[in-house]
Amino acid sequence: MQTHQFDAIIVGAGGAGLMAALYASKGGANVAVVSKLYPTRSHTGAALGGIGAALGNYEEDKPLWHAYDTVKGGDYLADQNAAKVLAENAVDAVIELEHMGLPFDRTPEGRISQRRFGGHTSNFGEKPVRRACHAADRTGHMILQTLYQQCIKNQVRFFDEFHVVDVIMNQGACVGVVALQLGTGEIHVFHGKATLFATGGWGRVWQITSNAHTLTGDGAAAVFRRGIPMQDMEFYQFHPTGLYGLGVLLTEGIRGEGGIILNRNGERFMEKYAPKIKDLASRDVVSRSIYLELRAGNGVGPNKDYVHLDIRPSTVNRYLAEAGETRRVDEAYVARVLAETLDVCRTYAGVDPLTEPMPIQPTAHYAMGGIPTNVDAEVVIDENWTVLPGMYAAGECACVSCHGANRLGTNSLVDLIVFGRRGGMKIAEYVKKADLIPLPPNPAGETEAEFKRLRASKGKTRPYEIRKQMQKVMMEGVGVFRDEKAMQNALNVVRELRERYRTDLTFDDRGYKYNTDALEAWELGCLLDLAEVTAVSALERKESRGGHSREDYKDRDDKNWLVHTLAYRKGSAVYQEGQTSIELNLKKKVDMSLAAEDPRFIPKERVY
Ligand code: FUM
Repeated sequence: MQTHQFDAIIVGAGGAGLMAALYASKGGANVAVVSKLYPTRSHTGAALGGIGAALGNYEEDKPLWHAYDTVKGGDYLADQNAAKVLAENAVDAVIELEHMGLPFDRTPEGRISQRRFGGHTSNFGEKPVRRACHAADRTGHMILQTLYQQCIKNQVRFFDEFHVVDVIMNQGACVGVVALQLGTGEIHVFHGKATLFATGGWGRVWQITSNAHTLTGDGAAAVFRRGIPMQDMEFYQFHPTGLYGLGVLLTEGIRGEGGIILNRNGERFMEKYAPKIKDLASRDVVSRSIYLELRAGNGVGPNKDYVHLDIRPSTVNRYLAEAGETRRVDEAYVARVLAETLDVCRTYAGVDPLTEPMPIQPTAHYAMGGIPTNVDAEVVIDENWTVLPGMYAAGECACVSCHGANRLGTNSLVDLIVFGRRGGMKIAEYVKKADLIPLPPNPAGETEAEFKRLRASKGKTRPYEIRKQMQKVMMEGVGVFRDEKAMQNALNVVRELRERYRTDLTFDDRGYKYNTDALEAWELGCLLDLAEVTAVSALERKESRGGHSREDYKDRDDKNWLVHTLAYRKGSAVYQEGQTSIELNLKKKVDMSLAAEDPRFIPKERVY
């Protein structure tokens, strides 16, 4: 075992991790980034269409309108102070990215180009606004490249292909992490004053997902296993436009550029479900509308199980004209601003979006819930916002909670940049005054024993078999629409699978070097833990709100449910078998500070 010591340890090298690393190092901290991937392969690269900021480069816009859309889009579960920080900080964060060299598309006057995105409006819901700042449809990719270069320039030390598997706690504080080096199979201990988790989401819990194979929630699971709560886990977002059958993301920017969703009859059905804002309603609304169309037999294809997304210039221009807009698009324009979309559709679906509509279905995309934090990325462990010393989280694995029950498109990139930066600054401050707490005795002992056990497992079930069953049952039971029976069934199956995972697993590679078999098995354990806590939290919330839509409790219930769920796993262990004991705390109230000053922020029915 090797031990490394740094002031700050950043786990994950996506947008949030890199921004935190950059700011902690700028503030004088000695920083290590520990990542299971090479940094520029992180999933931030898959966020395509833009980063929201009220720059007003084409039309009037204000951070307060952005905050309003975020709160409304989140179905009023967003902490309003966090939504305000997100919207206000977004403006200079985007300009800072521009100054770092991010190659944004440009307006004719040379300003950052902006496009429309779902749920983003001007003047408190009046009409769609162009708020998503973009670099073609590769915005996340450009953010990653830009920030990685800045970190290198700032002497941040990178440990690539180091898979973090456990959190080390001592004297009531977080003092580091345990990681497995993929290339050698060796265990490393990273010891520091501050540790920030920026490990992304866990879309691989579901069968159809936009998330890469690596999105297995390892950081969140490691934290949860050590007694830190998971907040609002029932809220998981399905992006309406995944490529049919594969789930690969087709950016909302397609609709932002004028793309239209159509059913088998060529009907623009969003006119029915969201008469004002139509295809640009928030994602939860559009995903549910697609499901309703499929249920009504209006789906396309032999099984009527998908719908069409149409960006052909002839279609777009017809609807632009109908809406009284003067803007028109042509093939060259679409090919330039949606280059990635064209490439993905041609390569993976054999469909050319310039001449054919794209087949789409909702795809598991984003966790609104996660490790609870305050607006400075400090991890909090209860309804009183008690800070856990030394532990921070930012990005998708964290729950600030600025997204509430449903995140607006583009706000994930804003979240990464804004709260990654705030976390980095807070860490720089903290490490200057905090003492280094020693490691506990044998900090990696449990992890070593668990990997030894995994490598020696001689059962009959392969990880992929368990993974497939988990993904199917979670898709059916804890997907876009839910009810008690299906969720309970999903929970029961996940618990049986956890038991089989523990007692009946087998895989081929028993070695140490680049043992992706063992790591895949480890990742499956993380997915199972997060599936279990998602189902437990979803069963408990007896209302429909945002991404949590129950057929047995169809209404939103502000009287009883304007609270966050905090789920705690009892017993601290690197892994536990079978049914774990999860306790829920429903006492953490939603912050309503904007509503206290402005009645427009008081919860009301969402009309799009
Ligand atoms: O549709 C998209 O481009 C995805 C962006 C996001 O999730 O914010």
